Amino acid sequence: MSSSAPLRDPYKPAARVAGQRQDVWSIVNEAAAASPMQPIVNMGQGFFGYNPPQFVIDAAKLALDKVDCNQYSPTKGRPRLKKAIADAYSPFFGRKLDPEKEVTITTGANEGMLSAFMGFLERDDEAIVFEPFFDQYISNIEMPGGKVVYVPMHPPPNGAFETSSAGEWTINMDALEAAITPKTRMIVLNSPHNPIGKVFSREELLAIGAMATKHNLILLSDEVYDKLYYVPFTRIATLSDDLWQRTLTVGSGGKNFYATGWRVGWLMGPEHLIKYVSAAHTRICYSSVSPLQEATAIGFEEADKYNFWEESKKEMKGKMDKFNKVWQELGLPYSDPEGGYFVLVNMAKVKLPEDYDFPPHVAERPRDFKLSWFLIKEVGVAAIPPTEFFTPENAHIVEDWLRFAVCKNDEILETAMERLRGLKKYIKE
Ligand SMILES: Cc1ncc(COP(=O)(O)O)c(C=O)c1O
Repeated sequence: MSSSAPLRDPYKPAARVAGQRQDVWSIVNEAAAASPMQPIVNMGQGFFGYNPPQFVIDAAKLALDKVDCNQYSPTKGRPRLKKAIADAYSPFFGRKLDPEKEVTITTGANEGMLSAFMGFLERDDEAIVFEPFFDQYISNIEMPGGKVVYVPMHPPPNGAFETSSAGEWTINMDALEAAITPKTRMIVLNSPHNPIGKVFSREELLAIGAMATKHNLILLSDEVYDKLYYVPFTRIATLSDDLWQRTLTVGSGGKNFYATGWRVGWLMGPEHLIKYVSAAHTRICYSSVSPLQEATAIGFEEADKYNFWEESKKEMKGKMDKFNKVWQELGLPYSDPEGGYFVLVNMAKVKLPEDYDFPPHVAERPRDFKLSWFLIKEVGVAAIPPTEFFTPENAHIVEDWLRFAVCKNDEILETAMERLRGLKKYIKE
């Protein structure tokens, strides 16, 4: 090579990881750490403020004593967990799931979805994602060279004035169809939805499913909050044999058993889809954490004995209703969740002081970042600005909203409510 060739920066990162913009989690967590109001009540990130149920914790402890549980699991997952999942989910799917061919275990739902995109997207293939989206979808689609095509969901028109059901957020089906091109391969769905709390109705799922059938697309149905629904919950894969054939359903032991750090997830679907998810997963991380797969299997085997699913749903709905009373007191409208543990609250009535000193990295972002910053500094409660889950063009749709996670201990919720009452003096009708 000629000596005049420009020197390459040996440390230049690949474009896929080189994004400069500070992500929402670090902005919120850094602000929380620096707030004068300590300790901050952190209702931002969706991790649980309490432990998994005792029978699951005990199972994890016992698993560590078993020799094979400390070694590699089969790449597609431990047979005991695949069977436990097949047994637990067969009644919901109305068919006997084959644990060897129709279930594959992954390192959390997130790596499962990365494996699905790695397994089916070629460079420049398109995947449709609804906004707001779970942020990992985007990089997971882009890593294999896929292109994300966005379709926004719309809040109820009166969302800034009155509380309404999260079910009233809508997708314009014509916009969805217009987003489909010859390069589209997948539609990514999430129900119950993060951050909206919407549970897609049967009719909506039939309409989306019809689109997938018409254009011959794969559906990736992210159902990680599948045990937390407060209205009837439909799984798109169950709506017809055609939809079963083209749907990958995603689950998460972390969400089901309050153990997001365990990183145990799974995908369920027909063999012709599952086998390529497994193939990608084998190359990404070979296999997933053995003792916690074992404990998750026992969790599924024993859940009914403890009436765990019913209790878990009742408990979360109780937290949701308890916390949302503070918005009723304050007269702030919210989107009443049909599922999951997030609530979106409309803060259009909260008037931020005009001369308030926001740091530049917050000042340049939409109003929800300012609201989040203000709440952390002045009220002592951290919440997530949802414009982060939209493209810049559509961010305006949610710039007055904030997302709160209620999967916290009751005392934390009470402290949060007490502090949030301090917002009263900034609320103008
Ligand atoms: C919609 C959605 N999908 C997937 C995940 C990731 O699940 P896991 O922790 O099992 O990777 C989350 C976590 O917040 C989520 O909100």
